[in-house]
Amino acid sequence: MANSPRPLVAGNWKMNGLKASLVELSAMAKAYDAALHSKVDLLICPPSLWIAPAVSQLAGSALAIGAQDCHFLPQGAHTGDISALMIKDAGASHVIVGHSERRTDHGETSALVKSKAEAVNAAGLVAIVCVGETQAERQAGRANEVVGEQLQHSIPADGKAKTLVIAYEPVWAIGTGLTPTAADVADMHGFIRQTCERLLPGQGQGLALLYGGSVKAQNAAELMQVANVNGALVGGASLKASDFMAIADVYR
Ligand code: PGA
Repeated sequence: MANSPRPLVAGNWKMNGLKASLVELSAMAKAYDAALHSKVDLLICPPSLWIAPAVSQLAGSALAIGAQDCHFLPQGAHTGDISALMIKDAGASHVIVGHSERRTDHGETSALVKSKAEAVNAAGLVAIVCVGETQAERQAGRANEVVGEQLQHSIPADGKAKTLVIAYEPVWAIGTGLTPTAADVADMHGFIRQTCERLLPGQGQGLALLYGGSVKAQNAAELMQVANVNGALVGGASLKASDFMAIADVYR
């Protein structure tokens, strides 16, 4: 399909990895051969401290480097923060915004997430906007309502399929080993596709929609073949090259 999004398997290292962990990136780059690159984009988002060294270490490789968060302003008096402009300057291509751990640990609202996503796009980078319901919300039958509301308020007003990726990450599946059924993922991703098409007319069909939450080699094949799933956002299983590449290899 001309319109179908190119798959993306993205790794989020979260607050994991010391300098020595950068060897994993070289191992990933080595395993990411032309045949695999013809099928899927691969991205690792290490702690921001490691973005610049990772980019120089990976020079010449198709393995992309991204950030896990950014401030919504390009510069200023904001101690401890980094901007999308700095991330771009360091050589990264993507920024994750609105991860549930940011929403929970730092009280980030969808309005803030939207301003961050817009800053990412303004810097010329791809924004990966995360959404997902809690277990209580799913049990109350409110999963679509919650995700629909997050989408409406978190995605950039003029988002384009080329520079926006949506990651559906049910909060209860992150780091728990639990995953939704393939049928639940299909329902939610269909709903996200429809909602994005409504919010961004003409762009929804081309958006890459990632599933995230306890993705590993053992469940990746099943999850990645679900309708409207165009890749994965991987936490724990992205720290080791062997685990991450086993997931990517699903697209071979
Ligand atoms: P997990 O994390 O793969 O360790 O469940 C996913 C994420 O939070 O992106």
